[in-house]
Amino acid sequence: MQNIHKITGDLLAIGASDHRLSRFENIFPLPNGVSYNNYVLIDDKTVLMDTSDSSVADQFLENLAGALGGRSLDYIVIHHMEPDHASMIGAILRLYPGITVVSGRQAFAMLCQFYPEHASVSHLEVAEGSTLCTGRHTLHFVAAPMVHWPEVMVSYDDYDKVLFSADAFGTFGAVEGSVFADEHDFRAEYLDEARRYYANIVGKFGAQVQTLLKKAAPLDIRIICPLHGPVHRDGIPFLLDLYQKWSSYTPETDDILVVYSSLYGHTESAAQAAAAQIHEKSGRPVRVYDASETDCSYLIAEVWRCAKIVLFCPTYNMGIYPKMLTFLHDIKALAVQNRIFALAENGTWSPVAAKLMAAELCTMKNVTILDTTLTIRSVLLAADAAKLDAFTSAVAEA
Ligand code: FEO
Repeated sequence: MQNIHKITGDLLAIGASDHRLSRFENIFPLPNGVSYNNYVLIDDKTVLMDTSDSSVADQFLENLAGALGGRSLDYIVIHHMEPDHASMIGAILRLYPGITVVSGRQAFAMLCQFYPEHASVSHLEVAEGSTLCTGRHTLHFVAAPMVHWPEVMVSYDDYDKVLFSADAFGTFGAVEGSVFADEHDFRAEYLDEARRYYANIVGKFGAQVQTLLKKAAPLDIRIICPLHGPVHRDGIPFLLDLYQKWSSYTPETDDILVVYSSLYGHTESAAQAAAAQIHEKSGRPVRVYDASETDCSYLIAEVWRCAKIVLFCPTYNMGIYPKMLTFLHDIKALAVQNRIFALAENGTWSPVAAKLMAAELCTMKNVTILDTTLTIRSVLLAADAAKLDAFTSAVAEA
């Protein structure tokens, strides 16, 4: 059954959500599903903006046919060639043989890699500053390399003031009922997942997102149509402000994040005692997570939100406990900046985790590692009260 949403008089959202996929990119848990958005512009010419993942192929094709209402499809604009948006390009080129592909040069090279049988399809190459007039509407193309792949472009429709933003401003989570964010409680329903999506998918490319934000600043944007998640009308300044913070690696809050690993509960006990003291001394919210229980993507999202990060880690095979090591590797791989780290280690005979964690973190840009560390010998005892107090005071005052 068709499931089409009107965005403006000429623009229809025809995307679909997958509720059964358990992990995005086979990595990131999707407890609330994910939407694959695409849009059809009905003008003198008809334009499809991107396709979808093959998991929602039937819904996508049925919606597309319904949106076209018997008209042919003149153009497909490819903003991004990642398969969650490009898996149906082959089907579209077969179903609408008179179509012209509109994309950047690099996207077209990728299209030929994925679909070598379509290498001779009619192609209109666009680049930064190119336009495509479809009748009333003119699309203006803006290069957005590495947001999140190198070929990414966004486009701006100057008639309806719509930004087609590719992966930018997207979120995990299915979209049901209304497609508009302002008809949901975005902060309650989507904000945490928007942050987790940004941090894990686009987080590494903050400089490139900053460049895109600068290019978008002069535009009168009334609607943002991303490739995932709800469409934004109201709330665009809030969203732009979030992206400004996230892409500049500015902590969203001065909350404090405590992440621990613990084999038998002793390191956990110390982490919980420290968290309580840090909260008491700082007056700030403190969030505590077990790195073995919480998927790393949620911890990364919390890194984007919090200003200080306190790590409690057992020494394991003379190294860093594996779950904590994975977290540290992700923090480094995503190029986190502007954070304060405090390190605590446990070891029954030879604690070295703090030194090794510091070695992982010290190569990062604009990161402070507190000199005051906490070493636990098996169990944090009442006799250790002074060193716990010194550690938590250092965190609270940093
Ligand atoms: Fe949603 Fe980078 O693809």
